[in-house]
Amino acid sequence: MKFFIDTANLDQIKEAQDLGILDGVTTNPSLMAKEGITGEQNVINHYKAICAIVDDKVSAEVISTTYEEIIKEGEALAALDAKIVVKVPMIKDGVKAIKYFTSKGIRTNCTLIFSAGQALLAAKAGATYVSPFLGRLDDIGSEGLTLIEDIRLIFDNYGYPTEILAASIRGPLHIISCAKLGADVMTGPLSAILGLLKHPLTDNGLATFLADHKKAAEAAAKG
Ligand code: G3P
Repeated sequence: MKFFIDTANLDQIKEAQDLGILDGVTTNPSLMAKEGITGEQNVINHYKAICAIVDDKVSAEVISTTYEEIIKEGEALAALDAKIVVKVPMIKDGVKAIKYFTSKGIRTNCTLIFSAGQALLAAKAGATYVSPFLGRLDDIGSEGLTLIEDIRLIFDNYGYPTEILAASIRGPLHIISCAKLGADVMTGPLSAILGLLKHPLTDNGLATFLADHKKAAEAAAKG
């Protein structure tokens, strides 16, 4: 399973990269705004800064909504760095644009996926990734994980190479559930990734090991 971090915060991206488990980054206009990144040039510089930290796969989202504008903006984003994946919303012109980008060898992430039908359309257009938003479905009382399960079944039925990028992850349990269902990628906040580390029995066990080691060393020193 690939691990992406869902943030535009450079410190958090560095921390995840330093951990040695990071495969990529996803951003969106809201995450960029949260970091106070506004204005075309600042946004471009920020994408470049993210690309300088990680090895590959940095999703940069277009803010255009018409075919011609999505193509223009997406091509400009893709030209910034070979690590860029152009993130395109699941709208009619977005699907057309994904088909175009695919024909040009530009990787795409189709975002704002909330149904299996949307994922199927994006896969047919040749999207590299589809991003079903689990947490936001859970938020409205719908079962986000069922969507992952359905998309997995459909993609496997037809051998679509499009990867399922489970997004809007809220915590470590979401990551585990997505891994069990066969999502290819998960993108979540650093807190969800670090949440996988935690278990009280690990902490207690380590404290006991270290205390026993210290006692034995003290006893040996006394002779
Ligand atoms: O980046 C897309 C997605 O992961 C957003 O998540 O937490 O805003 O629902 P969230």
